[in-house]
Amino acid sequence: MQLTKVLSLLTCALLSSATVPTKTVKRADSSQFVTTQGSKFFVNGSEFPIIGTNAYWLQALNEEQDIINTFSNISALGIKVAFNDVTEIPETGTWFQLIANGTTSVNTGANGLQKLDMIIKHAESFGIYVLLTLTNNWAPLATDNLTESIDGLKSSVQSRAVVDTFNASRPRNFLSNDYGGMDVYVRQFGLQNHDEFYTNQTVLNAFMNYTTQIVTRYVDSPAVLAWELANDARCNSSVAASATCTPQTVTQWHSTVAQHIKALDPNHLISSGTQGFLCMGCPKLFPQQTSPAQPSARAVVGRRSVAKPLTRERIIQERNEQFKKSRALLPKSEQDKGEGIRVRGRWVSTPTKRQSDSQGVGSAFDGSQGVDSEDILGIPQIGFGSFQLFPDQNTYGPDDPSLSAFNNTLQIGINWITTHGRLAQQFDKPVSLLGFGLVTQTNAPDFVPFNSTVAPFASDTTSTVSKASSTSSSASANSTQTFGVTDSEQATAYSTWLNTGISSGVSGLLQYQWSQGNLTAQANTTISPNDDTTGESSNDDTTGESPNDGYSIQGVGEDTVQSILQNAVQSVSST
Ligand SMILES: *[C@@H]1O[C@H](CO)[C@@H](O)[C@H](O)[C@H]1NC(C)=O
Ligand SMILES: *[C@@H]1O[C@H](CO)[C@@H](O)[C@H](O)[C@H]1NC(C)=O
Ligand SMILES: *[C@@H]1O[C@H](CO)[C@@H](O)[C@H](O)[C@H]1NC(C)=O
Ligand SMILES: *[C@@H]1O[C@H](CO)[C@@H](O)[C@H](O)[C@H]1NC(C)=O
Ligand SMILES: *[C@@H]1O[C@H](CO)[C@@H](O)[C@H](O)[C@H]1NC(C)=O
Ligand SMILES: *[C@@H]1O[C@H](CO)[C@@H](O)[C@H](O)[C@H]1NC(C)=O
Ligand SMILES: *[C@@H]1O[C@H](CO)[C@@H](O)[C@H](O)[C@H]1NC(C)=O
Ligand SMILES: *[C@@H]1O[C@H](CO)[C@@H](O)[C@H](O)[C@H]1NC(C)=O
Ligand SMILES: *[C@@H]1O[C@H](CO)[C@@H](O)[C@H](O)[C@H]1NC(C)=O
Ligand SMILES: *[C@@H]1O[C@H](CO)[C@@H](O)[C@H](O)[C@H]1NC(C)=O
Ligand SMILES: *[C@@H]1O[C@H](CO)[C@@H](O)[C@H](O)[C@H]1NC(C)=O
Ligand SMILES: *[C@@H]1O[C@H](CO)[C@@H](O)[C@H](O)[C@H]1NC(C)=O
Repeated sequence: MQLTKVLSLLTCALLSSATVPTKTVKRADSSQFVTTQGSKFFVNGSEFPIIGTNAYWLQALNEEQDIINTFSNISALGIKVAFNDVTEIPETGTWFQLIANGTTSVNTGANGLQKLDMIIKHAESFGIYVLLTLTNNWAPLATDNLTESIDGLKSSVQSRAVVDTFNASRPRNFLSNDYGGMDVYVRQFGLQNHDEFYTNQTVLNAFMNYTTQIVTRYVDSPAVLAWELANDARCNSSVAASATCTPQTVTQWHSTVAQHIKALDPNHLISSGTQGFLCMGCPKLFPQQTSPAQPSARAVVGRRSVAKPLTRERIIQERNEQFKKSRALLPKSEQDKGEGIRVRGRWVSTPTKRQSDSQGVGSAFDGSQGVDSEDILGIPQIGFGSFQLFPDQNTYGPDDPSLSAFNNTLQIGINWITTHGRLAQQFDKPVSLLGFGLVTQTNAPDFVPFNSTVAPFASDTTSTVSKASSTSSSASANSTQTFGVTDSEQATAYSTWLNTGISSGVSGLLQYQWSQGNLTAQANTTISPNDDTTGESSNDDTTGESPNDGYSIQGVGEDTVQSILQNAVQSVSST
């Protein structure tokens, strides 16, 4: 029997500020809510460019003043949109929903939705827009059977000490995947497979019930940028998928929930929150409507040629052309070494053309991630599409053998962003990069992958080579290389990707994750005393820093990353 009382999640994404004047492209609909026209966002009849950050821990802060200070910092930068995940909880700290033993109840108290009310109220006054996320694909806590002797709500905190996969020294809600999520429903409703979250009618009813309460509560707030249905939905998670789950299972769920929300809330946009993984060969539930009027209408929009549909063949062809070009740029001596592929710093044998074609489009494009973001973008109630870019955790395409590891990371990010810019043109809807990040060497000890609860490089920062690191190509089999990129590589990547997004028609770019210091600390909450994740310890037991799961900019890179974001804000506001 599962007695663990758990949480549910609400992610509240947050923020954005209106301190930068919006562009003056007027349109007829001058709603104060965020709306779209073509692939752009609008507010008050003016184009509304979105550059933002993620503060998933915002609702876990202990004092109202902490929320105000965080918003104040974020809006001082002119950042437009942040993001934040919310969920459950026991004795201390914030929780929104209790999911236990097949039943759910929402916490409308002071440490529940009233906390979210506070966030929305201050967001409104700062002119910040928040993206509220309703659930998370990832909830890897294995708290199931260790709590029988522990009574009631205390269990969630105490149980960690006995779960060997969980790092019990991290406070609850420290990690972005520690706010509840789909697998909490699956476990607490006694089900076996992750995808039963999408298909089991009882669970769907419970989720809809929760959704109804959240959505109706904020239906009139212009500070809600949109409803994000789920972070990174897909067939599997730390609870495995059943054999019957396909990307269409996930698409169908998005359609059902989006219709439900649209009926309750005509004011706000709805987005998916998927990582942008595609399935080029999959049959579609929501194929793109190709109305004959569209191509010519789109053609007058600009010099950009009419969007050709993205196809498998086109992806492979363009990739081959790109590889050929970068090879031609190598010194002759390198070219003469013959074709090879550099894998983690090692050259492996040359693939023939046939082999490289048979490698196919790769897991980001072939449906193997268990989600088809293109099909989801076709759902009429989905107002804009989403994708994410986390090269330390995902593969977006094969490495170009002529490039260094870091240049590959950079280029693969550029390709991924432009791919989604094309989808925006093709579907004539905005597509937003709702999270991007690279782990630096400094942050490597704090890095916890989204499907895990422990930091793989915490004890030994020199044991594994990052896919993204520049050093990984320079020497083969050097087992003492440091994980992660340098601070300056991170800065290069962030500014390159932001610029690529802006120039390729991606509307909405959110850096992951915001850092905030001088927060009120309280024992056994997310912001605990002496929980200085950067090691810059203060003697002060009354304040703490926001969580860092590997992407925080606290410390070394903070000023640089903030000024990169600020430049991007200025760039989208003036073009
Ligand atoms: C839109 O208009 C409302 C009301 O006039 C104002 O409060 C809000 O700041 C405006 N939003 C933006 C992004 O300009
Ligand atoms: C952000 O907040 C911290 C701590 O309150 C403060 O020291 C810092 O100056 C602020 N930064 C900005 C850019 O406002
Ligand atoms: C859970 O459900 C079982 C069977 O329906 C019931 O016997 C038990 O009392 C419930 N436990 C809690 C904590 O609600
Ligand atoms: C919906 O939520 C309300 C309030 O939390 C609760 O009373 C009700 O039982 C829930 N219904 C379902 C079907 O979960
Ligand atoms: C925990 O639960 C799993 C299956 O849910 C079971 O295999 C395992 O034996 C349980 N462990 C303990 C210590 O009860
Ligand atoms: C859905 O979940 C409930 C438990 O919450 C279970 O009783 C029911 O059998 C499940 N339905 C299906 C079709 O598996
Ligand atoms: C990486 O790319 C930069 C800019 O294109 C180039 O100057 C540099 O030589 C490349 N480095 C490697 C090792 O390929
Ligand atoms: C997390 O995902 C990565 C990449 O898919 C995989 O290699 C790893 O085994 C997963 N870890 C867990 C704990 O599921
Ligand atoms: C557990 O977290 C603490 C900081 O909260 C960190 O110092 C330690 O290295 C982590 N251990 C593992 C195995 O992740
Ligand atoms: C391995 O990498 C480290 C750090 O980059 C470097 O200091 C060391 O000299 C390298 N060792 C070898 C054998 O290449
Ligand atoms: C830290 O926060 C407190 C409470 O919000 C505030 O009074 C103080 O000015 C802040 N200090 C700094 C350096 O930001
Ligand atoms: C915090 O949790 C620890 C156990 O992890 C407990 O001993 C302590 O009493 C708790 N403190 C408060 C203030 O709840």
